[in-house]
Amino acid sequence: MSNEKIQHEIEQLRNEINHHNTLYYVLDEPQVTDQYYDQLLRKLQALETRSPEFLTADSPTQRVGAEIAEQFESVQHEVPMLSLDNAFDESEMLAFNKRLKELLSMETALQYSAEPKLDGLAVSLLYEHGKLVRAATRGDGRSGENITTNVRTIKSVPLKLNGTKVPQLLEVRGEVYMPLEGFRKLNERQAKNDNKVFANPRNAAAGSLRQLDPKITASRPLTFCSYAIAQCQGESLPDSQYAQMQLVKSLGLPISPYIQQLDSIQACFEYYQDIAAKRGSLAFEIDGVVFKLNDINQQQQAGFVSRAPRWAIAWKFPAQEVMTTLLDVEFQVGRTGALTPVARLDPVEVGGVVVSNATLHNMDEIKRKDIRIGDTVIVRRAGDVIPEVVAAVLKDRKAGFKQPEMPKKCPVCDSEVVQLEGQAAYRCTGGLVCAAQRKEAIKHFASRKAMDIDGLGDKLVEQLVDLKMIDTIADLYSLTLEQLSSLDRMAEKSAQNLLDALDRSKSTTLPRFIYALGIREVGEATALALANYFTDLASVEKSDEETLIQVADVGPVVAANIVHFFDQAENQQVIDTVLAAGIHWPPIEKPDDIDLPLKGTTYVITGTLQNYSRQQAAEILKKLGAKVSSSVSSKTTAVVAGDKPGSKVDKADKLGVTVLDEKAFEDLTGKKDD
Ligand code: IVH
Repeated sequence: MSNEKIQHEIEQLRNEINHHNTLYYVLDEPQVTDQYYDQLLRKLQALETRSPEFLTADSPTQRVGAEIAEQFESVQHEVPMLSLDNAFDESEMLAFNKRLKELLSMETALQYSAEPKLDGLAVSLLYEHGKLVRAATRGDGRSGENITTNVRTIKSVPLKLNGTKVPQLLEVRGEVYMPLEGFRKLNERQAKNDNKVFANPRNAAAGSLRQLDPKITASRPLTFCSYAIAQCQGESLPDSQYAQMQLVKSLGLPISPYIQQLDSIQACFEYYQDIAAKRGSLAFEIDGVVFKLNDINQQQQAGFVSRAPRWAIAWKFPAQEVMTTLLDVEFQVGRTGALTPVARLDPVEVGGVVVSNATLHNMDEIKRKDIRIGDTVIVRRAGDVIPEVVAAVLKDRKAGFKQPEMPKKCPVCDSEVVQLEGQAAYRCTGGLVCAAQRKEAIKHFASRKAMDIDGLGDKLVEQLVDLKMIDTIADLYSLTLEQLSSLDRMAEKSAQNLLDALDRSKSTTLPRFIYALGIREVGEATALALANYFTDLASVEKSDEETLIQVADVGPVVAANIVHFFDQAENQQVIDTVLAAGIHWPPIEKPDDIDLPLKGTTYVITGTLQNYSRQQAAEILKKLGAKVSSSVSSKTTAVVAGDKPGSKVDKADKLGVTVLDEKAFEDLTGKKDD
């Protein structure tokens, strides 16, 4: 390919990727699969690796985080970053509205623009000629910290604005936050690696953004939502808050999907109730609703008082943390046999819901927080997250309160409970003997993202197992109308509906089926990767660990889980039975083998690397098309060696195989680690 052609292709790929970014992050209407998107990105990466002269800072590949900073530089805010006044009830909202009407000498109702108040950190983004040139924290409102390299790693922040009417200069303010799902996963990862567990998504977002090493920020699931324009030059702005936000959206910046214009303070009350009702099912935490005068002229007329504008207010939700008594601790058995301590609480209302159970996560957490039965405890409920016990109130503690102990025998099946080496979790060894594990496995199999068996909810599964109508997944497809209609509160019609749903679920996809099996640590993404790599079930079943780790997202632990799962005769039998019942899926076409830069090469990783775990390094190599092996042979392309490498380097030397240090590894892979 000529240089010109390469440059042209690079530009086209960037445009296409940016277009899909907008569809995904701003319009919430993705038109391609994640896989297709990744392919585009990798293709671009490959071209840029080959022709680094065409690499620019606003390329969508440049989100992995630059060099580690010594400290954050200070940034002066030309327009101060203000905070908001709070209201806690309708009377305070009425007072706010009245004050504004008097101030503006308005007889008629004021119009407001409303959106949820996100629980994250305020950030200012500065675009010059459409390019992101600076991002800063709020700091004290007059000056903040320059966090540009970190913010560049947040995928929903466009590095380049869209459209033909891009202002010469645009400063957008908004919130960086961490969605709940990402927060949960991050904390799981942190706990597993013995790192700090974050108390809530807000702290996690703050801790992730203020990292001197942008690579850490890049690995955290942060996202961004705009809520105001602070400065604009070179284009005129619409005269309402709402229209300004639509303009921001058209430039490719995400805004709240819940933003609305409201015609009166009464409409604000309804909006607040509506958002409060949605709160529990949102994918992120919010702590209230923000109302802003919609008319920009009126905003200017109203002006500011010290730290906050007079024209806006945050109506906060009531506290989500309450105190109650810890009555007892019981142990719940999950799908994989893990025993989770669950707090039985004196029932208490938190954020509008009565809570009588809360999770205590695991025994390490109980020890760390020193929680004892009888304690007064602080309970938190956040969004749709399971309520959790945050801490014990020590001043109320009486002598004789004892820490709960892990039982030696499973509370459900009486099998022995063991703690696996190096893991916080304790497990019941009962396997399929344990009714709790069987119930959870069936619930998982039936769930929406697995076989999606409509009508087979948790309660029904428990009933069916308790009545011994089913033992395992294998029995599901031989349930009869007679059996089902004999159940309490099950009319013949619903029984038939369930049979129909079971029948429909037989027509599925391979990724769903693999996910439905409930192999430990094989989530949806891994199931998809396995299906795409092997394209049929038999190949997954008979593959060994060495082959499995070639699959993106599969490391040695997951590979071992998969091999172990298919080694169990009972599991094989369950699979054979359900397949014989008629479960089927369309064949999988292997995605086009795109031209990856390291295709056809094999690497071995050994020793301790400074900036990556061996698994991270393996993922980077695999994404670039290389194979990763655990043993050195004459076919090995090179050995990547960190500190204390051991015998693999000796073997490489003997065979004349190249040995790369960490720097050479980074040069090879272009430091791409996301
Ligand atoms: S408007 C001048 N809108 O709340 C207007 N703020 O307590 C400034 N926040 O520092 C803010 N969601 O970080 C606005 N939809 C929203 C918001 C929001 C969250 C945060 C923001 C601000 C704090 C004020």
